[in-house]
Amino acid sequence: MSKILLIGCGHMGTALLMSWLNLKAYSFTVVDPYNFIKLKKQFKSKKINILKKTPNQKDMKTFDIIIFAVKPQNANDVLNEYENFELKKNALIGSIIAGKKINFFKKRIKNTNQFVRIMPNMPALIRNGISCFVSRSNLSLNNKKKLNELFLQVGKTVWLKSENQIDKATAVSGSGPGYIFTLIHAFEKAAQKLGFSKSQSRDLISSTMLGSILLIQETRKEPNELAKEIAVKGGTTEAGIKNLQNNNIDKIIFKTYISAYNRAKLLGKKN
Ligand SMILES: NC(=O)c1ccc[n+]([C@@H]2O[C@H](COP(=O)([O-])OP(=O)(O)OC[C@H]3O[C@@H](n4cnc5c(N)ncnc54)[C@H](OP(=O)(O)O)[C@@H]3O)[C@@H](O)[C@H]2O)c1
Repeated sequence: MSKILLIGCGHMGTALLMSWLNLKAYSFTVVDPYNFIKLKKQFKSKKINILKKTPNQKDMKTFDIIIFAVKPQNANDVLNEYENFELKKNALIGSIIAGKKINFFKKRIKNTNQFVRIMPNMPALIRNGISCFVSRSNLSLNNKKKLNELFLQVGKTVWLKSENQIDKATAVSGSGPGYIFTLIHAFEKAAQKLGFSKSQSRDLISSTMLGSILLIQETRKEPNELAKEIAVKGGTTEAGIKNLQNNNIDKIIFKTYISAYNRAKLLGKKN
């Protein structure tokens, strides 16, 4: 049985934990001082040890994997609480915290050399996420196997080569669901302005989104090829697409990624 300590159990921590619970080979301990009561209620019937404060030295030495899932703004204070513990041999330190580099953890947690950065995304909650990883080359095969086992529970896994790439993945897939929800909200508001009800708008737009993604997957055609097939000359789709292009949709999307990427780099520089 591998023992996992999850430090911080907010939106992302909860999404991961929900899918991990049926894994028989793992046991879970969660530390979240501010949401202790809520988590106790939420996971009442489940076999999770929920703690209000940092475990003691004796317990810390029993964990095989320690995952930091707090906000970047809290990372420094939280790490201060964990830096002096002696850990189990080959204990794996994982972090899903945006921007924070492996060195940030390595500088503080001295008695293991097993570190990994993970960037999951919110659809993990329904096991349809994608998680990116980056580690130093010394990550043991055993730890890599466990990470794959855990994160395949919540969707796809992608191993990247550099921390720079994981900051970019943070901007693309980590933050990605946030952009998609923002776009869907804008589509829905616009459909309502045209006179559709809220529920009609939801139906029209979510079916269109989902159907379009499935069409790309099934036909394996390029999205711009599919767009061209629909946008016949002088037709309605062509008129709509022209408006997106005239307003520089490509530039808007690229700037969205760059803004998030720059933010990830900045978060990495702090502390
Ligand atoms: N949400 C996403 O889609 C997503 C995707 C990929 C990666 N991430 C990363 O995941 C991390 C967590 O994001 P989130 O959205 O889950 O944030 P969140 O909902 O704020 O979760 C963080 C949790 O940590 C708790 N916390 C604060 N101080 C703590 C401490 N000293 N010890 C233990 N727990 C503590 C927070 O309590 P309070 O709320 O009371 O402060 C909160 O419950 C972030 O670093 C983010 O970059 C998030």
